[in-house]
Amino acid sequence: MVTAALQYSAVAQAVVAGFARKPKRLPSWLFYDETGDKIFQSIMRMPEYYLTGCEYEILQMHKTALREHLVADGSPFNLVELGAGDGFKTEILLHHLTDQRVSFTFSPVDVSQSVLSQLVERLDKSVPGLVIHPIHRKYHDALDFFAGDALRKVILFMGANIGNFTVEEAVSFTKSISATMQQDDQLLIGFDLKKDPRLIQAAYDDPHGITRDFNMNLLVRLNRELGAQFQLDQFRHYPYYDPESGMTKSYLVSLKAQDVYFEALEKHVHFDRWEVIHTEVSQKYDLEMIQQLADKSGLAVVEVFYDCKHYFCDVLLANSG
Ligand code: AVI
Repeated sequence: MVTAALQYSAVAQAVVAGFARKPKRLPSWLFYDETGDKIFQSIMRMPEYYLTGCEYEILQMHKTALREHLVADGSPFNLVELGAGDGFKTEILLHHLTDQRVSFTFSPVDVSQSVLSQLVERLDKSVPGLVIHPIHRKYHDALDFFAGDALRKVILFMGANIGNFTVEEAVSFTKSISATMQQDDQLLIGFDLKKDPRLIQAAYDDPHGITRDFNMNLLVRLNRELGAQFQLDQFRHYPYYDPESGMTKSYLVSLKAQDVYFEALEKHVHFDRWEVIHTEVSQKYDLEMIQQLADKSGLAVVEVFYDCKHYFCDVLLANSG
């Protein structure tokens, strides 16, 4: 059994582990293959997915105040962006910092090589003179990479990526970030805030079917990479926002009792009728939750930057010790 597990790809291992749970689970990093990356770009352009526009507005409105914090004593720093994605919003900050002749290097970290290559190619042209050190890794591995770095660090974790952790997971993740932070390092985290539940529900259940395609692409990926035989019309996308906990959960629901064969695993996986695969958590926060997260992670809130509607915030944090 152990030998078989060792021979499995990371995707196969994630599926075996996730389908052994109740309810069945798939980790959300599986969304981001080449197709998933493209669909996510389309999600970010949808009017219902307000998050991107809000964070863009925050960076536009508060770039001067942000720069003043980041520059601190004027010493050079490494701007590390965890889960950089297309860098569309970060570019506002990069332009502003280079225009103001701030001395820094940019280290975008992303699990997707194709996303990183496109980002570097674009920034090379659009932000001349920017020094870029792209890092193709998962967040956790990247943190180890920076742990011994002598240069002051400003870590960006934007786009509500923190929401893809449960609250408990978010605490352990921010703890691991704060453990790598020196006294003068800073951390900027983007949080999607609790708001009208219908607005949040619509962001994950859009009328165009784009988020549905994003979720269903998991099954397409398993069909391609593991020789699975999912019939897409036998599963349905179902997102659900709970305003009490602030958690949006996304599911794929099996429309009938079925056995799906996986060539790479040499076995069938059974799904009952209406059985769900839990595919994503998108946690929404309020200020009290953010303060608790900071407290539990040994971090102090330096400043909270909002968009006009207070739908979203970028929170600047520093070591509290
Ligand atoms: C990347 N992440 C913050 C997105 C979110 O809002 O949870 C991923 C996403 N899933 C569905 N729509 C967007």
